[in-house]
Amino acid sequence: MEVLNSGRSVLDAIEKGINVVENDPKVDSVGLGGYPDAEGNVTLDACIMDSNGNAGAVAYLSNIKNPISIARHVKEKTAHVLLAGKGAQKFALQNGFKKENLLTPETKKRWERWKQTNKEMHDPVKDNHDTIGLLAIDKNGNIAGGVSTSGWAYKMPGRVGDSSIIGASLFVDNNVGAACATGLGEKVIETVGSFLIVEKMREGYSPLEACKIAIKRLSKYNNSNIFQVSYLALNKDGEYAGFSNQKEFSYSIVTNNLSTIVKSDYLLK
Ligand code: GLY
Repeated sequence: MEVLNSGRSVLDAIEKGINVVENDPKVDSVGLGGYPDAEGNVTLDACIMDSNGNAGAVAYLSNIKNPISIARHVKEKTAHVLLAGKGAQKFALQNGFKKENLLTPETKKRWERWKQTNKEMHDPVKDNHDTIGLLAIDKNGNIAGGVSTSGWAYKMPGRVGDSSIIGASLFVDNNVGAACATGLGEKVIETVGSFLIVEKMREGYSPLEACKIAIKRLSKYNNSNIFQVSYLALNKDGEYAGFSNQKEFSYSIVTNNLSTIVKSDYLLK
């Protein structure tokens, strides 16, 4: 809101808002201090989409704490949409970003504890997939969105989640609205959730109805009760909603008159 109120663009608000979370070492699922993979390496996914339908993304980016800013650079300074791994890191360094160790003493300690007790990957339900997804609309009705995460804790090295996949974790159509996702990225990719939600809003469904349709698609999985997927949607009129397959999903709403945390409704009661 501070960025928007200072007269800067809705895309600036998305990037700067997500940077706050990426820079916070206490948030253990995004940026600095994010969960590492099974070998102790923190690898990050992010994507961003603007009001003109242009997108940028990074996948499997290491040692750069602000993947959302690199995603924006990909969108604005290359002919591509998605850069991954070493190439994404090289691009970040060429653009003046700093190489940093993202594994904090706290997340290192937790990873070492996990290594002693777990031979398999962590359970996707118990683990935190607290991706940040941020959608914003400005006073002129322009919409943008972004997503940033360290992904599934102790994932297989090489794993890329939904947060770098436009259409899965994020979609923006300035004529209709936007949607973003958090939770088990594999299921979000397989159901192309955010694109589905925006298309449903285009058909006239409300943000809540559209999120429910995307969550119901998860019922194709026999085990949809053992993982978590949650969506947020925002339409052109500024109406918004969140919906989850399971309980315990909350999201924040900030306007000039309001700053609050809302408990999302959910499907599996
Ligand atoms: N939704 C974040 C991830 O699964 O990587």
